[in-house]
Amino acid sequence: MRDKILYLERQSAALEPNAAQRKEVRDQVVAYTERFIEQIEDNKAFNITEDQGAGLYSSPISGEPISIEEALLLFEENVEKPGLNPASGGHLAYIPGGGLYHSSLGDYIAAITNRYAGVFYPSPGAVRMTNMLIRWMSDLVGYPESAAGNLCSGGSIANLTAIVTARDAKGLKGADYHKCVIYTTTQAHHCIDKAINIAGMAEAKRTFIAVNEDYAMLTNELEEQIEKDKAAGLIPWLIVAASGTTDVGAIDPLEEIGKIANQHGIWYHIDGAYGAFFALTKSGKELLRGMNLSDSIVMDPHKSLFLPYGLGVLLVKDRKHLQYTHRFSANYLQDVIDVEDELSPADISPELTKHFRALRMWMPLKLCGTKAFTACLEEKLLLAQYFHAKMAEIPGFEVGQIPKLSVTTFRYVPESGDANGFNKKLLEAILKDGRVFLSSTNLEGKFTIRLAVLAFRSHLRTIDLALEIIAEKTAEILDS
Ligand SMILES: Cc1ncc(COP(=O)(O)O)c(C=O)c1O
Repeated sequence: MRDKILYLERQSAALEPNAAQRKEVRDQVVAYTERFIEQIEDNKAFNITEDQGAGLYSSPISGEPISIEEALLLFEENVEKPGLNPASGGHLAYIPGGGLYHSSLGDYIAAITNRYAGVFYPSPGAVRMTNMLIRWMSDLVGYPESAAGNLCSGGSIANLTAIVTARDAKGLKGADYHKCVIYTTTQAHHCIDKAINIAGMAEAKRTFIAVNEDYAMLTNELEEQIEKDKAAGLIPWLIVAASGTTDVGAIDPLEEIGKIANQHGIWYHIDGAYGAFFALTKSGKELLRGMNLSDSIVMDPHKSLFLPYGLGVLLVKDRKHLQYTHRFSANYLQDVIDVEDELSPADISPELTKHFRALRMWMPLKLCGTKAFTACLEEKLLLAQYFHAKMAEIPGFEVGQIPKLSVTTFRYVPESGDANGFNKKLLEAILKDGRVFLSSTNLEGKFTIRLAVLAFRSHLRTIDLALEIIAEKTAEILDS
């Protein structure tokens, strides 16, 4: 048996490369990523290739290894090239992503050290780092010491965790669900619908509160609706407001909603996945006043803190609610020693084993300092206003409201003919060109193009390029 074991150890030696072998693969990977970053401004933001990455299938997973050169080539041709480059400043669609370099180094160290960040007992430092970031964000929102939260994979999972926490906090049982009312606007992100469904509460009543011309919730309508629902014997359970909607970047009147929620004992959740980090800026702090009145809030570092994909955050004002929903134990965890002053992420979130996400956030915050983030967010706010003002000057274009955050909308209104068809064609032409990547939405039946500035690599030259491309493609369509 010993011989067999030693034989298997030799057979699996590839899993533990030696220093020279590590250097060889690492140098190639570093060279590749350096090339990627150096060329990012010259490469397309969106690229429609012929086979859309299907070349990957030509190299199936097999018992035999391939070289690092071959692996990187497969990646470059089939993953890097086709579709969207979310690390590009030209990504101006949906809610753009980030990809901070310093985060990648955090992930590198996290993967090599493979720190377990779920429980304090085996990994006190990783948990303290996590809790320190949660505290920093809680301070930004204005939550008290009682707050807790978790670092999860993204905004959808963070919102889901908030919904189940809110369900349990209000002591709801299955028999109540059909009487529960959820108040949002039509602008709420669709992950809220998903979350309600996954939470088993699809029977709950969704009520869409009317919005003003800025797509922000009308609080008088909210109040009236709550009164009506109470009188009808329903249970006003949850208000979901947005500190920055996906479609147009609208901000609901957070403070007023907070007062209404508190007065009626309704769980108040804010989806700030896109917008909450703008509280780092002076104007954003003012616009987002009232976030502290919520019971829970989501904010996504992989959006407005420019991190690579894979980090959303849920904060809950009173930790006992998170603990109630998520604290379970098992015989095999009997050695775990709880400490009083540090919460273990596994006790306040659905995950037990998890990626050590704190490091990818701590590294850039520590190595760049928060001032750099504030400046980058302020730049994005101004770029959106700049784009909006420039678009408003171009004859034939209709623009949305002056952006409060960093999403702008516009559409061309031809003198005659189908405006929706024209704008669809315009967007297709922009995407075919690929130097910038925009997306569209439907606002009251109008096909509307959106430009969202949030990628940290989007700068003045990027927005000037977008303006140039829009003018160029509009002229081409008009001439055709
Ligand atoms: C306002 C808002 N909430 C939630 C989400 C969902 O976040 P994620 O894509 O990280 O799951 C998004 C995504 O764009 C969003 O803009």
